[in-house]
Amino acid sequence: MRDDSRVLIFDTTLRDGEQAPGCSMNIEEKLILARQLAKLGVDVIEAGFPIASQGDFEAVRAVAREVHGPVICGLARTQNDDIDRAAEALRDAERGRIHVFIATSEIHMRDKLGMGPDRVLEEVSRGVERARGYTEDIEFSPEDATRSDWEFLVQVCRRALEAGASTLNIPDTVGYTTPQEYADLIAYLRAQVPGIDAARLSVHCHDDLGLAVANSLAAIRSGARQVECTLNGIGERAGNTAMEEVVMALRTRPEFYEGCDTRIEAREIYPASRMLQQVIGINVPPNKAIVGDNAFAHEAGIHQHGMLQNKLTYEIMTPESVGRGATELVLGKHSGRHAFADRIRELGFDTEKIDFERAFQGFKSLADAKKTVYNEDIEALITDQLLQVDQRFKLVNLSVVCGTLATPSATVELQVGDEVSKLARVGDGPVDAVFQAIRELSGRNPRLLRYHVNAITSGIDAQGEVSVTLEEDEARVIGKGADTDILIASAKAYIHALNKLARREDAGASQLRGV
Ligand code: KIV
Ligand code: ZN
Repeated sequence: MRDDSRVLIFDTTLRDGEQAPGCSMNIEEKLILARQLAKLGVDVIEAGFPIASQGDFEAVRAVAREVHGPVICGLARTQNDDIDRAAEALRDAERGRIHVFIATSEIHMRDKLGMGPDRVLEEVSRGVERARGYTEDIEFSPEDATRSDWEFLVQVCRRALEAGASTLNIPDTVGYTTPQEYADLIAYLRAQVPGIDAARLSVHCHDDLGLAVANSLAAIRSGARQVECTLNGIGERAGNTAMEEVVMALRTRPEFYEGCDTRIEAREIYPASRMLQQVIGINVPPNKAIVGDNAFAHEAGIHQHGMLQNKLTYEIMTPESVGRGATELVLGKHSGRHAFADRIRELGFDTEKIDFERAFQGFKSLADAKKTVYNEDIEALITDQLLQVDQRFKLVNLSVVCGTLATPSATVELQVGDEVSKLARVGDGPVDAVFQAIRELSGRNPRLLRYHVNAITSGIDAQGEVSVTLEEDEARVIGKGADTDILIASAKAYIHALNKLARREDAGASQLRGV
């Protein structure tokens, strides 16, 4: 193991993260986030699992072609087809990595793979060697390592290193381990696997017991020098290690972590977290460490008193250090194009990737409708535009009647392809009426699983941000829409979800989930 103090950040938001229910992303969404991850300074972006579907393949290829700086990684089982497909998707990357994995715990080998330990060892050698035929940057993971026999793990790691793996990742696939046990396992492997110090030792934790971040940090103290993690901790089941928490723990407690640090530009953490929330339509809880609404809010009088005397009484890091300024009034209706363009860039968007004139007109309408326009409003506006590509369904017009004496009804004009049609429906409430009309006009029949409204900023004129979860033929998607009128925001969110369902159909849904 190198004795340096640099900890690599391997971001798997676009692979393990998107495997969480409702978090799947299409190519445009992955590209938007991958660019922000590059800006954040992550070392590796795991962009997907190319064999899983045509959509996953294309997303990894697009990220490999268009995102520069980080190593771009694709996941593969030990099968030849998986490895060849990953290599093809990564062909145009500046630096590409193939991540090969196979399960090594008794339960996975017996009940999932139907293989004995000897066969698994052969697969490790064969898979890693094949991947080495494409690139020198190979990561190997023994899936469910923390429930595997430790002596067998030593053999597996030896095989992977002999076959040419340059990174050895030890996954806690089911979130089962504890900080002390995981640290002991890392120390044991370092002591028992010959030549392991020439490779980079990596950790990958799931949060089933709420220990993913603690386990990852304990492993760093034991010598691991790569952490696999996701923004906001999204991922399978209870999620993965939250990147922002690991990064800020190392930075806040350097003496405890013996100077170990990452190259993350911490002021990009909050914009990245917000961007992910916008893209997948899932908000973090208010008390989420580092990025939750309340993470830096002080309510109790005694705390406020202390803060006024000296911020360090109750604040171990500043909101500014993670990119959270006070929610400021950014622009008004008299602001011009230059000011708007500057602000968009400050918020982390690339003005060349957006239709600037359309965004500016959107901003002007918003500034007319609202007294104050905040950063969050602009983020919502731009993300909304970036995600509205290839729309099969578009809202043309909406009018709603409701009130204490009226039967709620909605008249919707919807463009489907090139045709515009109109329909009026009554419902249990105005939102129900809007959704019924849109559903019938779209000719689809998804089930509404969840409807959520959130105010983007405070104040009576705040924009409503609606997220809608739809399910159709086992595909589940989340649509988002923002507007000062929550019925329009609801219609936009429903239509956004319908467009995502249509896109999934076109791209071919994933066949291989649940890694
Ligand atoms: O949790 C896990 O084991 C994984 C592997 C593919 C690294 O995601
Ligand atoms: Zn995982």
